[in-house]
Amino acid sequence: MTLPRIEPALRGTRVIPVLVLDDPAQAVSIGRALVAGGLPVLEVTLRTPRALACAEAIAAQVPGAIVGLGTLTRPEHFAQARDAGAKFTVSPGLTDRLAQAALASGIPYLPGTATVTEALIALEHGFSELKFFPASVAGGAPALRGMAPLLPDVRFCPTGGVRAEILRDYLSLSNVFAVGGTWLAPAEAVAQGRWDEIERLAREAAALAAAA
Ligand code: 3PG
Repeated sequence: MTLPRIEPALRGTRVIPVLVLDDPAQAVSIGRALVAGGLPVLEVTLRTPRALACAEAIAAQVPGAIVGLGTLTRPEHFAQARDAGAKFTVSPGLTDRLAQAALASGIPYLPGTATVTEALIALEHGFSELKFFPASVAGGAPALRGMAPLLPDVRFCPTGGVRAEILRDYLSLSNVFAVGGTWLAPAEAVAQGRWDEIERLAREAAALAAAA
């Protein structure tokens, strides 16, 4: 069994905001700001009690948003993601049981890897589009450049430590299809309801990605 690929599900978007949300009303405002700023593909992480409700609220109330679920660390999370209507799923790592649950969900899946060996294991499970995490600690853009000739069939989405300043370093690599990160919705801006700041950060990242 193979899953639909994740890159087409992103519809050409090369920057994925990684969101930590626990208030569905706030989530809708943040989703609107990010879509208005040019970043419609959103990863809502399962790190808070109301994360699923936040993801469902964005999908229902923000036109144009493509909502996936991330930080899936237990097999049962995949059925929850499917039931919540997630368009893609993301894990920080990969185990046999996560791979089985992802395949059973039928949803495009981005498993996390940090080394060549982990990427080879992901390939054995049939996954060739991989999260590279935590990117800045696992060697950053030079590590991905080094892996390219060894893993010609693999394309990565680095996350972890990605910021506007280093977007281009990653997006200019032939084996990188997108980047992700939390810098687009900083906790302070969320707490203070500064949606214009989030829209500005999204617009900046979308422009940098378009120029990369
Ligand atoms: C993730 O789950 O992808 C990371 O939490 C993102 O890392 P960052 O906070 O450094 O962007």
